[in-house]
Amino acid sequence: MPTPIITTAGLARTFQTKRGPVEAVRGIDLTVERGEIIGFLGPNGAGKTTTLRMLTTLLAPTGGSATIAGRDLARDPRGVRARIGYVAQSGGVDPAVSVREELVTQGRLYRLGKDEAATRATELAGQLGLEGLLDRKCAALSGGQRRRLDLAMGLTHRPEILFLDEPTTGLDPGSRADLWHLVRTIRAEHGTTVFLTTHYLDEADALADRLVVVDHGRVVAEGTPQSLKAEYAGSPGGTLQDAFLAITGRSAPQDTTPVAV
Ligand SMILES: Nc1ncnc2c1ncn2[C@@H]1O[C@H](COP(=O)(O)OP(=O)(O)OP(=O)(O)O)[C@@H](O)[C@H]1O
Ligand SMILES: [Mg+2]
Repeated sequence: MPTPIITTAGLARTFQTKRGPVEAVRGIDLTVERGEIIGFLGPNGAGKTTTLRMLTTLLAPTGGSATIAGRDLARDPRGVRARIGYVAQSGGVDPAVSVREELVTQGRLYRLGKDEAATRATELAGQLGLEGLLDRKCAALSGGQRRRLDLAMGLTHRPEILFLDEPTTGLDPGSRADLWHLVRTIRAEHGTTVFLTTHYLDEADALADRLVVVDHGRVVAEGTPQSLKAEYAGSPGGTLQDAFLAITGRSAPQDTTPVAV
């Protein structure tokens, strides 16, 4: 068996707040193989972003451990950072600078030389369909173009693992399909492991090899889209939406409608 690219054991995070502790993540055990596309699902507040922020070294766990791309998260966060890319839930581009400047700055942050950073910026723009937009200000990009730029920034240093937090939220169906295509291409061409969260279950179904569903800070189900549907959707031909509702215990909208008497 090849060594998994991500393993976590009891990964946990409690936030101390004025109103008392908030147990955002209560102990997550994960195994991800190299080259997998993982869909990390769960209702609002389930602990997805908190988990991603821990896996990407932005937030220290309060419990458990993780090994990411062969590096121990607690002992070698710099080693982890060098091998991963992270695209946050709300993208972090500077609206006042051009796409080219933003990409070059990102390259420089990853210690590329000036010429190298410029070359990489052009290369990434080509890969992500941004070549005509290099000299446009980030503020003038559409939502889909902005998300592609976010992705380009996350890929600057050719990471082994790409973490994407809701990469397609707010995009129109065409832009979402473009982004799926990009994610598949990146994986096919570079063997990149992709770990993404989404609330679009059709997207999770179409894109992910394997799904991990969290709720209240714990893994409540995992498996291929097919196996989760077979186990939880209730009827043959049931959708991932049906399975998700069964897993998270949320009743379907029609169940909450008062019954007329
Ligand atoms: N800095 C913080 N301080 C206190 N509580 C926090 C903090 N960050 C997150 N939480 C809480 O932790 C829980 C998990 O939040 P998280 O952002 O991980 O959820 P999520 O699954 O990403 O949700 P969404 O689908 O809405 O993005 C929530 O109850 C949230 O309010
Ligand atoms: Mg989130």
